Amino acid sequence: MHSGQTRGSAIADNQAPRRVIADGERLPGDGIYLRLVELGDCGDVYLRWLQDQEVTRFLETRWTEQSDQAVREFVRAKRSSLSEYLFAIVMVGGDRHVGNIKLGPIHPVHRYADVSYFIGERDEWGRGIASEAIRIASRFALERAAVHRVQAVVHDGNAGSALSLERAGFTREGVFRQKLWTGDRWSDQIAYALVRPESVAVTDYIQPEV
Ligand SMILES: CC(C)(COP(=O)(O)OP(=O)(O)OC[C@H]1O[C@@H](n2cnc3c(N)ncnc32)[C@H](O)[C@@H]1OP(=O)(O)O)[C@@H](O)C(=O)NCCC(=O)NCCS
Repeated sequence: MHSGQTRGSAIADNQAPRRVIADGERLPGDGIYLRLVELGDCGDVYLRWLQDQEVTRFLETRWTEQSDQAVREFVRAKRSSLSEYLFAIVMVGGDRHVGNIKLGPIHPVHRYADVSYFIGERDEWGRGIASEAIRIASRFALERAAVHRVQAVVHDGNAGSALSLERAGFTREGVFRQKLWTGDRWSDQIAYALVRPESVAVTDYIQPEV
């Protein structure tokens, strides 16, 4: 650190936005891996997931019309973003793409990032896939993307999502009362987060310049 420079500004300098993973790299986990979503992943299957009312029951996507073009625009935007990562959740053995998990936006100063996800293939629900995907994405966030706090919100009533976050080590932090309209009633929203352990010095996870 140069004399007179604060630690805070050193962190900001080192963390100028840039992509920290390239196409094709696999983030490995138990039974699944994550990789960046590519334009080739857009198509009928992706659209079927977003048109499945069971899948979208607790997703904001349910309020907007989904089309192949809208999906492609979304994927294109995430692929060119410097603060968001859209990952495909893929089964090891067979490479079946079963859903997606998104990390970001990553706040440039405060280093918190949202995580959101869905398993589009309903026959794969209840097998620990979301929990593992959240674990992998969180590890990537903390170890490679200099995120300090990974956070998520879930509809009260989305027990599977809440449990997935808890299995991945997230802590329930609070309730936003009647924040969400479900279509026929108001619903609470529950906030979860995973915070980098205090024991790890902030300088230990600053990305090295490459
Ligand atoms: C919610 C969702 C992501 C869970 O994915 P999943 O891969 O089935 O989750 P996991 O298998 O990791 O389940 C984690 C825990 O939740 C439990 N669980 C999963 N779905 C559940 C449900 N509908 N009701 C109650 N418990 C459920 C699992 O049994 C498991 O508990 P365990 O560890 O005690 O065995 C998936 O159902 C989904 O994509 N739903 C639609 C989209 C969505 O809601 N996304 C989240 C928005 S915040």
